[in-house]
Amino acid sequence: MTASPFDEIIERRSTHAYKWLRHDESILPMWVADADFKCPQPILDAIHERIEHGVLGYHLPDVVQPLHAAVIHWLKKQYDWDVDAEWLLWIPGVVSAFNVACKAFCEPGDKVLVQTPNYGPLLQAAKHNGLVNLTVGTVLENEGQANERWVLDFDELERKAADPLCKLFLFCNPMNPCGSVLTEAELKHIESICLKHNVLLCSDEIHCDLLLDEAAKHIPAGTLSEIGEQTITIMAPSKTFNMAGLGASFVVIPNPAIRKRYHRATLGILPWVNVLGQVATVAAFTECDDWLKAQLDYLRGNRDYLAKELNQLDGFCYRPAQATFLAWVDASGLGVDDVQQYMLNHGVGPSAGSDFGDSQFTRINFACPRVYLEQMIKRLRSVAAG
Ligand SMILES: Cc1ncc(COP(=O)(O)O)c(C=O)c1O
Repeated sequence: MTASPFDEIIERRSTHAYKWLRHDESILPMWVADADFKCPQPILDAIHERIEHGVLGYHLPDVVQPLHAAVIHWLKKQYDWDVDAEWLLWIPGVVSAFNVACKAFCEPGDKVLVQTPNYGPLLQAAKHNGLVNLTVGTVLENEGQANERWVLDFDELERKAADPLCKLFLFCNPMNPCGSVLTEAELKHIESICLKHNVLLCSDEIHCDLLLDEAAKHIPAGTLSEIGEQTITIMAPSKTFNMAGLGASFVVIPNPAIRKRYHRATLGILPWVNVLGQVATVAAFTECDDWLKAQLDYLRGNRDYLAKELNQLDGFCYRPAQATFLAWVDASGLGVDDVQQYMLNHGVGPSAGSDFGDSQFTRINFACPRVYLEQMIKRLRSVAAG
């Protein structure tokens, strides 16, 4: 088999990469959601060119026409979504973006719907904003069959959305950590529940361009026919093109009143997306299609490798995800109280399942050269170091 560019081992510890600094050298880091792959060359070239210019002053993203053109082009191409430039607001990070939604649309004591298990900062957003979490569980559909997948517990969603204090649904599609991509029927179901109970839908879609299941289709919340106008869709090139450190993300809000209220909540608090993040975004959305296609192929191979190997190890059960580069692995079969410690004892550093709401699971980031996965499997096969 010929080597892929994604096989390249790139030393990151010396760059103070958060992923590689958390543990000492005895632990293989498989946690935080950035990739160990080099950014596509057009992004690196665009950043180099901008730096060569030599002046790095203020660049207000709202008036950078090529930035809007790049996003409009991308959303049309990827999702057949016609977006107006004025619907876009630039936010230096998706976590900030959904916390702003909490501040803008809820009063102290209001309740926020959030799925569990979920990305930690989504679970914590209500608390950080003086609000109350209303968690909605996840259930396994078609268990034991080839098409089994994690889905929202819609009965619980319906029940909890009916609470008059519930104002906002902070959603994550594709799901992190479960990796499911919502179908049109499921999104319609969410739409009808939100409409019925007057709940605002804010959808974190940071992983939407990382679809591994070729039969799945990502449908942005903002394209839903009945509430699309009233939704907040958050997106970013950061996971797709491995440029999370540049803090470039955007929200799409078609409704002017909602957009104004959202924007007001950012004033005086959030800085602009920086100039390097802006030029990188333009390059990502206009010049990197081939790179993304190759990366998706590589990730599919990694996912399939993991599924094959992990499911042969006693105690682990991995249901391959439809999207994202994150494996949500059931480790309850190990019969240990502390799954994270078990992994660390084997020299593997994934994200602890408890960070997402289920301590019997572990989340493994497989956006890395395959040889790291091979090392991980070898370590997990070995007797624990103590
Ligand atoms: C669902 C989800 N939202 C947001 C983020 C982080 O976004 P940002 O770094 O832009 O704040 C992540 C990172 O893992 C994520 O998985």
